Amino acid sequence: MRIGHNLKLGVNIDHIATLRQARRDIDPDPLAAARVARRAGADMIVCHLREDRRHIQDQDLFELCKLKGEVHLELAAVARIVEIALKAKPDSVCLVPERRQELTTEGGLKLVGASAKPLRQAVSKLKAAGIEVSLFIDPEAGAVRAAKALGADTVELCTSAYSRAKGKKNTGTELERLELAGYLAYEMGMGLHAGHGLDYHNVKDVAAIPHLTAVNIGFSIVSRALFVGLKAAVAEMKELVS
Ligand code: PXP
Repeated sequence: MRIGHNLKLGVNIDHIATLRQARRDIDPDPLAAARVARRAGADMIVCHLREDRRHIQDQDLFELCKLKGEVHLELAAVARIVEIALKAKPDSVCLVPERRQELTTEGGLKLVGASAKPLRQAVSKLKAAGIEVSLFIDPEAGAVRAAKALGADTVELCTSAYSRAKGKKNTGTELERLELAGYLAYEMGMGLHAGHGLDYHNVKDVAAIPHLTAVNIGFSIVSRALFVGLKAAVAEMKELVS
């Protein structure tokens, strides 16, 4: 799929690893998935090293960073994980909020109050190591300004509310919030990413947001891959047992 001028497609491979972790086995291999995704046009491979290691493992990240091509790591601003990122050296990172009980990232970072200090420290350590730093934020002017003040190179606008919005009016309102926050980020000299909950039905309007430099998509691509590939997988097995 062609998704706009100079817009990078970041393909998140977390859920390939989720499936592997269900059996703690070697298949499906996230590295093999990264190679396939790259051949199909992924500009960046994205993964989230969570504190609970529910999908991507440290070794996956280290091996991924040795492959050719751009790697974008999502991580919480937690010293232990930041240290791993500094050793693995992905090309870029996105700092995200993380809660053990959540099924997936639930929204943008809190950028003020007690959360600001660990974020500022993480941004400065990662940038000092030459890693480009993005902050995952809700599409609000205050959040864009706070991200700039914390030293972010890029903001990733959280598209969850847009993705969940029902009906033309609500969807339009959420798209407008993304566009306005996007303009401000651009005016402030930051890169602009968007992601979370994007799928084959809702991505086009987001991809058209002015100044957007990347979209990061995982769940919908991995879900669709099952159905694009299931027919061939069953047919191959049928052939073997026939
Ligand atoms: N962007 C960020 C910051 C995320 O945390 C995630 C989920 O890991 C995504 C994008 C991708 O979201 P989805 O899997 O819903 O496409």
